[in-house]
Order: sequence, then structure tokens, then C-alpha cells
Amino acid sequence: MATKINFNGEIHDQLNISVLDHGFLFGDSVYEVVCTVDKQPCFLDKHLDRLFASAKAISLVVPRDKEWFREQLEITLGAANNDESYVRIIVTRGVGEINIDPSTCQSPNIIIIVMEIKEYPESCYEKGIHVALVSIKRNASDALNPNVKTGNYLNNVLAKVEANKLGAQDAIMVNALGHLTEGTTSNLFFVREGHILTPSLDCGILSGITREMVIQLARENGFHIEEGKWAGEELCEANEIFLTGTIKKVMPVSHLDARPVGSGKPGPVTLKLMRLYEDLIGRKL
Ligand code: PDD
Repeated sequence: MATKINFNGEIHDQLNISVLDHGFLFGDSVYEVVCTVDKQPCFLDKHLDRLFASAKAISLVVPRDKEWFREQLEITLGAANNDESYVRIIVTRGVGEINIDPSTCQSPNIIIIVMEIKEYPESCYEKGIHVALVSIKRNASDALNPNVKTGNYLNNVLAKVEANKLGAQDAIMVNALGHLTEGTTSNLFFVREGHILTPSLDCGILSGITREMVIQLARENGFHIEEGKWAGEELCEANEIFLTGTIKKVMPVSHLDARPVGSGKPGPVTLKLMRLYEDLIGRKL
């Protein structure tokens, strides 16, 4: 079991990169987090599509094609030889002058970090986690668009700091209009009167790959699922809440702002979707 870091096609155990990389100086980078199932990257094509879309959205020209990423990831996973891995693929703007202008950067750096995955404890899936509706607002879509997965996550870091202070394991943010958006590294779903509700993309969220899969699974299995806009307060009326993401998978929420959600235990709709997602990826949560 090991951590391996691929830097522009070369594999290292540890890596020092230049402090003049604009990824470090300004968060001027894009990234993806991928997990493995049976040692194979899960939904890799979708992650690579989103990585390239994010790069395009910030006018970052990725110097390699998707096939190169697939090959390098396979080599790096082989070198790490973990049971299951956490994979982080990063493309930075590269080294440039110490000013904000990206046009001074010569070539993007590509970093693939492969390490042993740290799963959430089973107790989180059995009991659910605590979340807080925080005061930090999600970035507006016409500012740093949340649908672009950049290395600038300070908005989410601040939300997480607030959640930590409130004794919650994660934060739920609303946007400037007070509409529910998402968690710090996950998408939000809630259940009201048997209907599954989730903020629509135009609320300003990342179009999560797990979210997309869960919506599909819910539809295929006869659930009523709706994407839309809901005020933050409406979450307090939810019978069930869950979060989705590559690492969290389908994570039940037991408490919102220290108050139990529904029965205070993972509800039937959440449990059903957890099972369906497990079946889809072929792995127990
Ligand atoms: N985060 N929303 C945000 C803000 C995210 O950062 C993520 C993923 C998601 C869920 O997307 P997906 O289902 O494609 O993982 C939603 C990853 C896991 C991270 O940054 O660690």
C-alpha cells in the first residue's frame, strides 16, 4: 500500500513543485477526485470529461488527451498497488511570473495523486452524519461558477470551518438568493412526503457524477424525483436528507443544525438508494 504521485508522466513517492506554479499561488487549477472499485477507476470517462470541461471553462489548454490520462492513471495505480485508491487528478496553470496574469505561465502541470482510500466509517452509513446550514453563501454562477471544479475551494473551506465550529460534519450552503445549493464536497438531496428533491444545476452547484447516477437510479426505480429551487428553511421540513459524492457515495444525514431529521436515523428512501448505488458500483457502503 503506497502513495504514488505522477508528475507530467513521471512517478514519484513524494513531490515538491514550484511555489511559482499559479495553481499554488492563485488556486488556478482544475481537479477531479476519482475512487477505485476492484482497483479500477470508477466512472473515469465522466471524470475526464468534467476535467476537460472545467479546464475549458477557465481557458486552460490541457496539453495531453484523455487517453494519456487513462494510461498514466493505470501505470500509477499499478505502482501504488493499493486495495482501493483515492485518485486526485490536478491540472495547474503551471509556473509563471508572480502576478495574477495566467498568460505568463508556460505550460500546465499534470499531477495524479494515488493513495490508499480512507473511507467514511461504517457508523456514518448506519447512523447518518450531522450537517449545518451555514451562513457562508455558495459562489454565484456568474462569479466562480460552482459547476467548474477548480482548485480554488476557499468558499467551501470557509463553509467547512463554520460547520466545524458548529460541531457538524459538513455544511450545506445556500446561494445569494437563499436557495439551497450543496455541501462542501457533495450534492444535496432531501425527501418530503415521499418525493426526492435536489437543487437544480442553475442554483449554482457542481453537476456531481454521483448525483447524476442517483437521479437515474431513482427514476429507473419509480421514485418521484424533482430538481428545483428551494429556500434554505425548507430543508428543516425534510423527512430525510442525504449527500452524494465520489467519496461519500450516498451518505445519510441524521441531524440538521443539531436537530434530528425525521426519525433521526437513515430513512427508507435513503436506505433504498444506498442499496441501489451499492449494486450499481458493485461495492458495499
Ligand atoms: N468533490 N459538489 C462539490 C462542491 C464537490 O466538490 C463534489 C465532489 C461534489 C460531488 O461530485 P461527484 O459526485 O462527482 O464526486 C459536489 C470531490 C469528491 C472532492 O472535491 O473531494
